[in-house]
Amino acid sequence: MEPTVLVIGSGVAGLTYALKAAEFARVRLATKKEDRESNTNYAQGGIAAVMAVDDSLDLHVQDTEVAGAGLCQRDAVEQMVREGPDRVRELIAWGAEFSRDLEAPAPRLSLGREGGHSRHRIVHAKDLTGREVERTLVAAVQQHSNIEVLEHHAAVELLVESRLDARGRMRRTVLGATVLDSGSGRLRALLADATVLATGGCGHVYLHTTNPDIATGDGVAIAARAGAVIGNMEFIQFHPTTLYHPTARSFLISEAVRGDGGILRLQDGTPFMDSYHPMASLAPRDIVARAIDNELKRSGDDFVYLDVTHLDAAYVRDRFPTIYQRCLELGLDITREAIPIVPAAHYSCGGVRTDLQARTSLHRLYAVGEVACTGVHGANRLASNSLLEALVFADHAAADTQMLLEAEPPVVPPTDLSGWLAGNDPARQAAEVSPEFLAQLRLLVQTLMWTHVGIVRTNHRLRQALREVSILAGAVDSLVSTSRPSVELLELRNITQVGKLIIECALQRKESRGLHYNLDYPDRDDTRGPHSTLWSAMDAR
Ligand code: FAD
Ligand code: SIN
Repeated sequence: MEPTVLVIGSGVAGLTYALKAAEFARVRLATKKEDRESNTNYAQGGIAAVMAVDDSLDLHVQDTEVAGAGLCQRDAVEQMVREGPDRVRELIAWGAEFSRDLEAPAPRLSLGREGGHSRHRIVHAKDLTGREVERTLVAAVQQHSNIEVLEHHAAVELLVESRLDARGRMRRTVLGATVLDSGSGRLRALLADATVLATGGCGHVYLHTTNPDIATGDGVAIAARAGAVIGNMEFIQFHPTTLYHPTARSFLISEAVRGDGGILRLQDGTPFMDSYHPMASLAPRDIVARAIDNELKRSGDDFVYLDVTHLDAAYVRDRFPTIYQRCLELGLDITREAIPIVPAAHYSCGGVRTDLQARTSLHRLYAVGEVACTGVHGANRLASNSLLEALVFADHAAADTQMLLEAEPPVVPPTDLSGWLAGNDPARQAAEVSPEFLAQLRLLVQTLMWTHVGIVRTNHRLRQALREVSILAGAVDSLVSTSRPSVELLELRNITQVGKLIIECALQRKESRGLHYNLDYPDRDDTRGPHSTLWSAMDAR
């Protein structure tokens, strides 16, 4: 019988992996909402890849490592940068249409520039790159007869079997996952010979985020509960430029806007980035977000400006149609007025630890995309390296899965699944927690994380946050074990547990580096050598 692979998540990572795995296995892809709903779908800037004659792999590696503040894993970065151009060409072969310079003798890819990049290397589709990537991949997946997509199926837990191996060591093997079918409100067990977490990021751990609603850190929390090693969760990237608006939800103003000459200004019009970094408005994100945070605290203002009024208006409308249109809907013509902006949580550089083949510390479990910590981003991700990382590591994960399935027998289903499916018991099904109560608890966690574990941290605030989040985590756990499972309840548990992981990793790091800035240790400490923070439930016991 053909082996089965379970993919959890339908962003760039899950879809790319699914397309490749479908060549040698039957693929089931479970996703929490509609297939398109993902962070990928909202990506604006693009995909960083060395495609220009004046660029080089060495320069892209160097830019990635400079942004990563000494913590990037060299072999992972080299793998991503080396294989990136082929993965971009593969996307184009699958039908992706990226912006081109039409006036060149043979129309070639138009390459944008973003913060921290020393060359123009951002492959993009205007300011809708993610939508184009997602459209292409979803269309290819829908045409593949070997892929079954289960929409509105949220992964709840990994099915794990623990056994002693031949050398007497405990080996934990993943046999699939339980999922909640939000249509019926019931849990299902999906068995698989290999399982892939591709659940994306965790922006909604924080009050303000660029991420869509799906980004609640599910994969990291699920893997942590199953005993997988998690790493570097303190490195949460805050995007410096999201639209400030009193009522509208956060909306990203792409870094490509600064790449094309946008200038950051105080409310009185003074440009301020020159005094923070030689690249001024084009400095890496961590520097810019901290600079804005500092200026806002100094002035007491609610926002600073990103100004493109000096650029050609027709160019701005054509290059950034989504941003232009969204701001116009909110009454702001960005070709005439500066854009009020504030930072917001954007990207998780840490996640489920993997090796170069995207293998996690649990047997038969892979992690790809934002949920993973491959070592590529170190302490801070370089702009537009995320879509790239997902494409490259999904390719490796699929190749490795094929070898695994050829080398090992199919999984043996557990004899008793009742413990995993206890949420279907009639008593639990009858005990629904009110959505309003869940929303209140969620807001509590998000506000605490925003105020105490944000861009600038202190030991005192981190410890206080840990105490409060731990109490909430205990309360949410008991709700989960006694109530009807719902996506809102499961997300609340995941948000709370990931918040706790972020704080625990932040407390482990006794220095400031990259995205982690602690006033009690304001300097980078290289005396211990660059080190990752690692967390595992096995060690925590
Ligand atoms: P996602 O694309 O987020 O997909 C995750 C999938 O998992 C979704 O389908 C979700 O529904 C599903 N899922 C989540 N939890 C569960 C669960 N429990 N069960 C089942 N399914 C689940 N990066 C760049 O490189 N370039 C950019 O220009 C760029 N711009 C960005 C702009 C915005 C506004 C945002 C938010 C991010 C941007 N990023 C960019 C980051 C990048 O988009 C993401 O890191 C990347 O798309 C992550 O891809 P992914 O496949 O790992 O996760
Ligand atoms: C952006 O367009 O600014 C987002 C780019 C990224 O997150 O890499």
